[in-house]
Amino acid sequence: MHIVHVTAEMAPIAKVGGLGDVVTGLARACLTRGHKVDVFLPFYECINKQHIKELALTSTYNSFYDGSWVATNVYRGVVSGIPVVFIEPSNQFFKGQSVYGGSYNELEAYLFFSRACLEWLQVSGTQPDIIHVHEWQTGSLPLLYWDMYHYLSLKKPRIVLTIHNMEHYGECRQEQLSKCGLDGSMYANEEKAVDDRTIGHNPERLSLLKGSIVYSNAIVTVSPTYLKETLCSGWLAGTLIRHRDKYFGILNGIDAAMWNPATDAYLPAKFDANNVEGKKICKLYVQRGLGLASEVHSRNPDTVPLVVCISRLVAQKGLHLITNAIRYVEELGGQMVILGKAPDGRVESEFRGLAELHSKGSSIRILLMYSEELSHMLYAAADIVLVPSIYEPCGLAQMIGMRYGAVPIVRKTGGLADTVFDMDDQSQPELMNGFVFKGIDEGSLNGALDRAFSYYRQKPDEWRGIVKKVMQIDNSWNNTAGKYIEVYNSVRVRNH
Ligand code: ADP
Ligand code: GLC
Repeated sequence: MHIVHVTAEMAPIAKVGGLGDVVTGLARACLTRGHKVDVFLPFYECINKQHIKELALTSTYNSFYDGSWVATNVYRGVVSGIPVVFIEPSNQFFKGQSVYGGSYNELEAYLFFSRACLEWLQVSGTQPDIIHVHEWQTGSLPLLYWDMYHYLSLKKPRIVLTIHNMEHYGECRQEQLSKCGLDGSMYANEEKAVDDRTIGHNPERLSLLKGSIVYSNAIVTVSPTYLKETLCSGWLAGTLIRHRDKYFGILNGIDAAMWNPATDAYLPAKFDANNVEGKKICKLYVQRGLGLASEVHSRNPDTVPLVVCISRLVAQKGLHLITNAIRYVEELGGQMVILGKAPDGRVESEFRGLAELHSKGSSIRILLMYSEELSHMLYAAADIVLVPSIYEPCGLAQMIGMRYGAVPIVRKTGGLADTVFDMDDQSQPELMNGFVFKGIDEGSLNGALDRAFSYYRQKPDEWRGIVKKVMQIDNSWNNTAGKYIEVYNSVRVRNH
């Protein structure tokens, strides 16, 4: 089978969050199962070219946008063993220092990109079995496909959509949709019933995410629990219920090659479930590097757990719980390091203030940046990985943390509820692997921190057992890539 991913992110060259990890991990898992895979990505100016092998300009073609043709370069390269097609328009789209937030109109750039990808498939005579789109950014592609390309030339592909986060719905004006060649008014008909193929009743507020739900052949979201949550609440629940028969919940995996403490080139010492000595060195390395107190020369056993939180600093991630954790971990005599980037200036300055406040102390560090290298080192150094999200479609941080021997503390929501099971929940002893709290109040989180700290300090043997257990859990794509292949197979056109 030939699968083409059309995506706004890909790890490690253009990653903002888990979307980038998932595209790379799933693409690699399908490649190793013998399928042909290509990833189509905008050629962002900020792209990290160091990680691209065999990069070469292969073609230039004209892609339609806003009534004219835009000369567009196509580059090919290989990233982590995966073939990638880079689309580079000659206009201002995708120029800037970051993947998102450039000074061009982002929505229009992705409308352009979605059509340019279909055009390139047509121009190059490629007929994949599956076009796999992700999130609102590529949400116009299914509409474009069924509106134009299916009749013209691309007869074989079927479209699979993965929804990584229902909150980003790609709000789009009718006239913007028209810029990529669609008749915007067809999709914004106030007269039509709610269950027909319109994607919004207000022409000023169409949703590309809703469009891709309606027009894709199959929809996947990133965990079984999030699937249930999205069918029960949220403004797209009704749409999803109507499309329930093509809607699946498949838990994300992590890329076992990219996230492996036994081979990780970023770590000062390697380790695995059978020998965690290297993890102690990683903790010490981070403590020293960041100026945190370390107990290595004391005769006492280690009583200072290091809590790590690596996260985009946005409301979804439970910002008030993260700031509360800083205070409470310090009160409990632990250490905490936050690695995060805040797209919102107000949040950024709040965390900057906290970072300065704690910069002279020896227990808290707040690093406001994006750093792949630091993230690997921190997961390896951590005793506890904290993910206190208000909602979390899947969450990779808890899975990566576990692979590096960090015991998770999570809020019971979405994919966190599918991957972390409380140490004190005797109903499923074989699954117990971390600490889970339910409320969104500080007290609930503090209770989980209390329990984790007391295990760490008072039951060191049991703690070592949990560390070993979490490292042995297989949260890789080994478990779930096969489910994606089943979905691909269920929609693909055979013997075309
Ligand atoms: P989301 O996609 O909502 O951000 P996930 O937990 O699914 O959440 O994935 C987040 C990914 O981004 C993980 O790989 C995490 O390690 C990484 N990440 C988040 N913030 C940073 C940061 N500041 N620096 C480096 N990596 C980060
Ligand atoms: C989104 C979600 C996160 C998920 C990731 C990858 O960014 O917020 O929960 O793990 O996508 O699917």
